[in-house]
Order: sequence, then C-alpha cells, then structure tokens
Amino acid sequence: MQMQLLRSVLCCVVLTICGLDADAYRILFMGPFPAPSHWMWLEHFQRDLLERGHHVTSLNNHPTKKPHENLTEIILNPSFDIPKHFPKKNIFTMRFASDFQNLQLWWKIGELTTEHALQDAQVRRLIDSQDEHFDLVILEQFFHEAFLMFGHKFKCPVVTIGTMGYADNMDHAMGILTPWSVIPHLLLSHTDKMTFSQRAYNAYLSLYDAVIRRWHYMPLMQQLAEKYFGSAIEGALPNVLDLERNISLMLINSHRSVDLPRPSMPGLINVGGAHIRPAQKLPADIQSFIDNATHGVVYFSLGSYMKSTDMPPEKTEQLLQAFGRLKQQVLWKYENASIGQLPPNVMIRKWMPQNDILAHPNVKLFISHGGIFGTQEGIYWGVPMLCIPLYGDQHRNTIKSVREGYARSLVFSKMNVEDLVSNIEMLIYEPAYKQSALEVSKRFRDNPMHPLEEASYWIEYVIRHRGAGHLKSQGAHMPLHQYLLLDVIGCALLALWLAVWLPWRMLRKLYNWWAAAAATAQKQETKKRL
Ligand SMILES: *[C@@H]1O[C@H](CO)[C@@H](O)[C@H](O)[C@H]1NC(C)=O
Ligand SMILES: *[C@@H]1O[C@H](CO)[C@@H](O)[C@H](O)[C@H]1NC(C)=O
Ligand SMILES: *[C@@H]1O[C@H](CO)[C@@H](O)[C@H](O)[C@H]1NC(C)=O
Ligand SMILES: *[C@@H]1O[C@H](CO)[C@@H](O)[C@H](O)[C@H]1NC(C)=O
Repeated sequence: MQMQLLRSVLCCVVLTICGLDADAYRILFMGPFPAPSHWMWLEHFQRDLLERGHHVTSLNNHPTKKPHENLTEIILNPSFDIPKHFPKKNIFTMRFASDFQNLQLWWKIGELTTEHALQDAQVRRLIDSQDEHFDLVILEQFFHEAFLMFGHKFKCPVVTIGTMGYADNMDHAMGILTPWSVIPHLLLSHTDKMTFSQRAYNAYLSLYDAVIRRWHYMPLMQQLAEKYFGSAIEGALPNVLDLERNISLMLINSHRSVDLPRPSMPGLINVGGAHIRPAQKLPADIQSFIDNATHGVVYFSLGSYMKSTDMPPEKTEQLLQAFGRLKQQVLWKYENASIGQLPPNVMIRKWMPQNDILAHPNVKLFISHGGIFGTQEGIYWGVPMLCIPLYGDQHRNTIKSVREGYARSLVFSKMNVEDLVSNIEMLIYEPAYKQSALEVSKRFRDNPMHPLEEASYWIEYVIRHRGAGHLKSQGAHMPLHQYLLLDVIGCALLALWLAVWLPWRMLRKLYNWWAAAAATAQKQETKKRL
C-alpha cells in the first residue's frame, strides 16, 4: 500500500518536472515589417504561444500593450518609415498601377525594410550573439527572406506565417509547382474558371514573377544576408533559396470557405480567421450608442494604416453629409478629437474595438477599405460590407466580396454623397446581402478547431519532431526538369525516335543493298549479251 503511494507520488514528481522541461520551448518570433495590421495579426500567434508556457523573444516594431513575464522584446528603433518612402497622399489619388509595377513595389519594400531591420543595433547584437539558444524561428512570410539566415544561425527549424494568402513561391518551397491553368496569381482576382486570355495573362504574370524573383530579387536577399550575417557565422553561408526550401511549415492566411481550392502539401496549413476572438464587452459609451440605435448602426473604418484624417477634406465632407442623411447611427473610427460639423447620429472615436463592434447584432453595415483582416471579421460576424479599396490586396478582396454577394464597392476618387447614401441603403434594406453574409459566415465558422489553436498545434509539432522533415516533399529540392519529367519524356522521345528511325534506316540500307546488287546483276547481264 505504502509502496504504491510512494510510487505514484514519485511518478507525479517526475512527470511534472519532465513535463515542464519538455513543453516550454524558446521561440524567436520575427515580424520585421512595420505595417500595424501585419503585426496585429502576428501578435495573436505570439500571445497564444506565451499562454501555452513558451518563452518568446520577439523582434518587431510595436511594443506590446500586454507584457508577459516570458516575453522578451526587441523593438526596431527607429522603425522603417513607410509613408516617407511611399507617401500616403499618393494612395488616395492612386491611378491604375499594373500588376507588374505592384510586384516591383513589393520587392522594393521588402528590400528596404529588410535592410532597415538588419541594420538595427539590437538585431546586430542578436546576429553576433554566442550564447543564445532557440528551438524555433518564426518569421512573417513576406518579403524578408534574408531573415531565414536566423534559422541557420541558431540551427533550428523555421516556421513562417503568411498574412497575404498564397503565392506561387510558397508552393515551390514546399515542393509543388502551382498549376497556372486553375490558380490565379496572388495579385489577380480571377476565379479558377479562367478564359483563354485570362489563363494566358496569368501564365505570363506568374512566369514573370518566378523569373524576376529567382534571378533578381532573391540574389538581392542573398547579398543582404551575406552583408549582415557574413562576419557572425563561420564558414560559407548557405543560399537563401535553399533556406527557403528548408522552411518546415507555413501557416497561411487563407480559408477554404472563401478562397479558391488549390493543390497543397502537408506543410502548408490554412489559418485564416486565426485573429478572430469571441466578442468582449464594449466600452460603456459605444455599447449604449449601439443598443439605443433603433434603425441599427453603420460602422466605418479605413483600417490601421491609412487614417481617416489623411483623407482629402472634400471626401470627409461628403462622408459627413451622407452619414447625416441616414436613419441609422454611425460609428466612425476617426483619428482626431474633432472633425468639424458632426451630424447628431454620428459618433467618432480615435480607436474602436472593431471585432466586438461587428459582433453586435444591431450593426447592419461595415464600411471598410477591403483589408483582409477586417473583411474576415465582417465575414465571421455576418455583416454586409461597403468596400472602398485603396491599395494593395484591397481591390482583390473587394472583388471577391462583391462576387460572393455580401458586399458592394465604391471607387474612392469618384464617390459622391448620392452614391454613398444609395449604396448604404441598398446594403441595409435589400435582404439578399444579409442572407449571403450569413451563409458565408456559417461556412467560415465551420472549423474542426479554432485556426489559432491549429496554428499553435502545428508550431509545437514542428519543434517536437525537430523540423518535421517528413512533411516536406522532395519536390522542393528537385531540379525543374526532373519535377516536370522532362528527362523521362526526353528519354521516351529518344526511344521512340530510335524505334522508328533505326528500323527505317536498316530497311533502307537493306533495300539499297538489294537495289545495288540487282543493278550490278543487270549490268553484268547486259554486258554478257553484248
Ligand atoms: C514562464 O516560464 C516559466 C518557466 O518555463 C513557467 O514556469 C511559467 O509558468 C511561465 N509563465 C507564464 C505566465 O506562463
Ligand atoms: C535544413 O534544416 C535542417 C533542420 O530542420 C538542418 O539540419 C539543415 O542543416 C538545414 N539546411 C540548411 C541548408 O540550412
Ligand atoms: C440610451 O438609452 C438609455 C436608456 O434608454 C439612456 O439612459 C442613455 O442615455 C442612452 N444613451 C445614448 C448614448 O443615447
Ligand atoms: C484635429 O483636431 C484639432 C482640434 O482638436 C483641429 O484644430 C484640427 O483641425 C483637426 N484636424 C483635422 C484633420 O481635422
């Protein structure tokens, strides 16, 4: 009896000690891109890892508002000033930029922000550090491939988290070639049912992306990696292209219910919707504002990067006029204490708890810039949307939302008071929009487990299995001609050619020989006769 008790107590102690040791990992978590929306999404993953008891060293641009005893922050200082390089006022008046220009823009931003971050004194200390140990490096899957060198430096596996959805290069890194016949390029808003000209353009853009990325952009990343890691790491540095093919796992912001089906690999995990939490209590003033609105509420926000205060004054005026004509109450995320003549049904606040507001059943419409995270929140809570896209993926998200039937769109530079009022009223009073919104919402919520929980599960899985090499297909490391079976097809063609050509040659030889023999025989015959 006593022996048994002793044994179970011992067991308990051993389990507790081992459990603590085995389960708390040291993770280097990096989000060098300065745009706030990217970090707001990434921080959800970081927080969940902390809550699971791991130790996180976090390199990013935004000091946390919720400190944690196991969180060490490396805040880039100063952080990269995007508006200085890409002025905001150009965004509001932006003319059509070609897909090719957009790609170039991403590469340029990637190059500038990567170098800016690698120059930071604290980052250089991390690069030079001798006694640091990490079990895993997590990096935003964006345009910062030089940072993959941290995985090599700390000899640990790498997981990336993608904000923007799938790009061809993610497929390649995991070992599949994206079929351009059915998968539109990241920048395009086609469906998987493309016409001939759409497929042709898609193939052209995708090929351009693949070639310039491989031969221009990635060599730049290699140069940056060598410039900043060269002195800190002994021996030759690996190629960033190889490090990319060595990424263990990619967590991608995509969801089966709203994004196109595509071929995949076990190392590609969809975590769209990971940032959506159960609604929390609203601040008292906003709560009573929404509760009291007998005709419902319209919520308006341009997101975290573009500020409503950056808008040209005539647009602000148009919005105010339009809102003033509505029966509904309007909540506007406006980043200044005053806005001029505020209609009585409009309330402005510098900051709004967007997720919790959209969760309120009295919110009838979300006017947004079509950013991916806001769109997903709107979808989750089943709120119809009026999208006014400005830049980047916002146009693409908007086209998709309109196609799904729960949204309408306006062009910012051309919108006027009439357009605003009629679109807002249509979205509120025609029930088809709400119906579509509820349908999509139901699909979007139907998950075997919460996407954030799934993400953390796979992150721990990669650490538990030391990089989980078994998730990776050899396709990632295979030369293109082998992957496409060009060598086999070449061989088969050669065999076929030989099988036809050789017998034919032999027959011809035989025939010639016979013909020659016959001719000689005939000649001799003639000679004899003569
Ligand atoms: C921080 O880490 C220590 C050691 O791994 C652990 O015992 C503790 O519970 C963690 N703190 C929190 C708040 O999770
Ligand atoms: C790829 O990752 C594994 C561990 O996940 C590591 O052992 C290997 O050295 C890495 N290869 C390169 C080129 O860094
Ligand atoms: C909302 O209604 C309650 C009770 O009807 C009232 O006390 C409160 O002042 C109202 N709030 C607003 C913002 O109108
Ligand atoms: C912001 O508010 C201040 C006063 O609070 C006002 O003077 C200023 O014009 C406002 N700026 C904008 C862009 O509305």
